Amino acid sequence: MEPTQAGQVVVIGSGLIGRSWAMVFAGGGFKVKLYDVVQQQITSALEYIRKEMKELEKSGMLKGTLNAEKQLSFISGCIDLKTAVDGAMFIQECTPEKLELKKKIFGQLDLIVNNDVILSSSTSTLLPTKLFTGLKHVKQCIVSHPVNPPYYVPLVELVPHPETEPSTVDKTYALMKKIGQSPVKLTKEIDGFVLNRLQYAVISEAWRLVGEGVISPADLDLVMSDGLGTRYAFIGPLETMHLNAEGMTNYCERYREGMIHVLKTFGPVPDFSGEIEQQISQAMSERTPADPEHLNARRAWRDECLMGLAKLKKQMKSN
Ligand code: NAI
Repeated sequence: MEPTQAGQVVVIGSGLIGRSWAMVFAGGGFKVKLYDVVQQQITSALEYIRKEMKELEKSGMLKGTLNAEKQLSFISGCIDLKTAVDGAMFIQECTPEKLELKKKIFGQLDLIVNNDVILSSSTSTLLPTKLFTGLKHVKQCIVSHPVNPPYYVPLVELVPHPETEPSTVDKTYALMKKIGQSPVKLTKEIDGFVLNRLQYAVISEAWRLVGEGVISPADLDLVMSDGLGTRYAFIGPLETMHLNAEGMTNYCERYREGMIHVLKTFGPVPDFSGEIEQQISQAMSERTPADPEHLNARRAWRDECLMGLAKLKKQMKSN
C-alpha cells in the first residue's frame, strides 16, 4: 500500500459508525487501519465501503480530491490491536456504547500507545470523566461525537476531559476540519453534550403536544420538516433570532416576554411510555412499518435526502 502524506488513523470497531469514519478519514487522504475483534465484521465493512465509495463517486458525492480506488487503497483491516496502532497519529474508538467495554479498550490502548497519539471516542452518551479518568495518557484523550451518518452530517462535538491538554483539542479540531467535518468545541463535559440536549428539548415538547391532543404525530413532524428544520439546515436558532428582527437586541426587546410566557407553560419531562407511546408508535408505523425492510428503505431515502442537502450546502457556501 502506498503511504499517504497525511498520516495514519486507526478506527476501532467496524460497525455503522466505524465504517463511516473510515471513509471520511480516507477521503481526507489518511491511511486508515480498521480494527475489530470480529474478522467477519471487518470483511463486511470493507465490502460495504467499496460499494459505497463507488456509488458516491458515480453520483459526484465522494469526499476529498482523490478517486474512489485511491481512497480504497488507504483502508485496510486488522485484528491485532498492537499492530493496528503502531505508527498511528489518531485513534477513533467506535465500539458498542458500553462503559465497561470502552474502559477496557482505552485501558489496553493506554498500555501500548506513545505520548503523541490522540485517543478519541465516538461515544454519544458517556462522559469523558467516566471513560478516561485514571489513564496514564488522559491528556491525549477526547470525545469526538459524530452524528449518524457522519459522511453526510458533518458535525462533530469535541468534549474534553478536565485533564485533556488544550493542544489535544486543537489538534483534533484541525484534523476534523481537514477531513471536511464541522467540529464544535465544548469547554467542559455535560450530560447529553449539546446536540442531544437540544434534540431532547424538541422531542420532549413534541411528546407533550401530541399527548395533550394539540396536534397529530404526523403534523408534529411536518412542523419540523417543512417549518423549523428547513432554516435550521442553514442557520441556527440564535442567528434565526438575529435575522427575524432588526438584530438580536431588537428580537429580545420584541419577543422576550412572549417567549418567557410560552416557556412557562411547558409541562414536566414525559415518561415516554404508556398510551402516548402507543399512539405515536402507531402513527409512525402507518408511514413506515417497523420491520427491517421498510425501515431500511426509509433510511436509504433519508440518506439520499441528506446527500442532496450536503450537495446544496456545498454549492450555497461556495457562492
Ligand atoms: P455497532 O454495533 O454498529 O458497531 C460496533 C462494532 O464494534 C462492531 O463491529 C463490533 O464487532 C465492534 N467491537 C465490539 N467489541 C469490540 C472490541 N473489544 N474491540 C474492537 N471492536 C469491537 O455500533 P455503532 O452504532 O457503530 O456505534 C459505535 C459508537 O458510536 C457507540 O459508542 C455509539 O454510541 C456511537 N455513535 C453511534 C451513533 C449511531 O447513530 N449509531 C451516532 C453517534 C455516535
